[in-house]
Amino acid sequence: MTESVAFPQDRTCPYHPPAAYEPLLDDRPLSKVTLFDGRSVWLVTGHAAARELLADPRLSSDRETEGFPAPTERFARVRTKRVALIGVDDPEHNTQRRMLIPSFSVKRINELRPRIQETVDQLLDTMIEKGSPAELVNAFALPVPSMVICALLGVPYDDHVFFEEQSRRLLRGPTSEDTEDARDQLEAYFHTLIGKKRRDPGDGLLDELIARQQEAGAPDSEELVSLATILLIAGHETTANMISLGTFTLLQHPERFAELRAGLGAEPALMPAAVEELLRFLSIAEGMLRVAKEDIEIQGSTIRADDGVVFSTSLINRDTAAFDAPEELDWHRTNRHHLAFGFGIHQCLGQNLARAELEIAMRALFDRLPGLRLAVPAEDIPFKPGDTIQGMIELPVAW
Ligand code: HEM
Repeated sequence: MTESVAFPQDRTCPYHPPAAYEPLLDDRPLSKVTLFDGRSVWLVTGHAAARELLADPRLSSDRETEGFPAPTERFARVRTKRVALIGVDDPEHNTQRRMLIPSFSVKRINELRPRIQETVDQLLDTMIEKGSPAELVNAFALPVPSMVICALLGVPYDDHVFFEEQSRRLLRGPTSEDTEDARDQLEAYFHTLIGKKRRDPGDGLLDELIARQQEAGAPDSEELVSLATILLIAGHETTANMISLGTFTLLQHPERFAELRAGLGAEPALMPAAVEELLRFLSIAEGMLRVAKEDIEIQGSTIRADDGVVFSTSLINRDTAAFDAPEELDWHRTNRHHLAFGFGIHQCLGQNLARAELEIAMRALFDRLPGLRLAVPAEDIPFKPGDTIQGMIELPVAW
């Protein structure tokens, strides 16, 4: 075994796993790493082991369980607070997820496509009208998913400055007090919004959930608030980062980008394939977290009860045993079983929505701005630190 590496660490290049994780590759599929609090936990880096473990009910997502790993001080601060879906185990998890599945089915998301297209077109109209250069994160990458998730949930987009700021503070500080305060503010916001909706219902998913709970005679505001918070945050932060980092990555790979653009007209399946490959390559949701409830034998190692288990999505998605030449961007890869959306019962609920948004947003961006390029040198563009969802902080572009 190699000497314990600290986790998480910053990427040196925004689209590659941190160079500091290289020693871990010798121990694939499983290594021990050290968290900020000095605790030693397992880091899963192999694709087959990750699938096996993420499907294993002996691993728990319940953050209140003894031994649950905290990758940052911020996370430790809010850990004991119950988080719907992503922070609960079956059977409670299954009950929550079943309520939501119909709203995120391929069919429902396909019905949303014209609306997503309209949102994308309007944002691009405005950006083009204002003229080159532009800051792509705020002009496009963030508002697309933010407007879409607001419409889907029935949250007023007029409040976007507030909730985008709170979710930024929740996910990346600067201090753990910020995280806690941001969480409290979002909860208070949703308590008020749900109260308003009970009196004056609208037609979003939150309104549906409120109505269903009232019918069942068990209006549980805490659970609704927690569901609304996770859907809102997961619904805009992740996709926004994929649009910004995906665009940056393409601009840094001009040959692959040209190949993609050239093929788009004749090959309708190329854009979805490119989105899938970018999801694998960028692996923006690094570090899924679990704790073992019992001893688990896996590929010659024993994970003991109460051990923390963290999954390195970026290393898993570049496992040479699962993908040929994983360091390469390849739009024609047939093996698409990446774990960028996770695996098992917690596999991303919003993946159909994310795919639709990414396909529509990136395609329209490339079609309408054939001369798209970075407005400043790549090394001057700030990207997010390794302890949060990966993405660009800003993306100055010209055309
Ligand atoms: C490209 C964008 C996205 C990426 C890379 C992503 C990634 C992930 C990953 C890796 C997980 C699993 C976490 C775990 O197992 O611990 C997850 C879960 C989840 N995601 Fe996404 N996500 C994206 C977009 C979205 C969107 C648009 C929504 C919309 C609401 C969403 C909602 C959720 C929810 C609710 C869960 C928890 C599911 C559960 O525990 O049953 N995500 N996501």
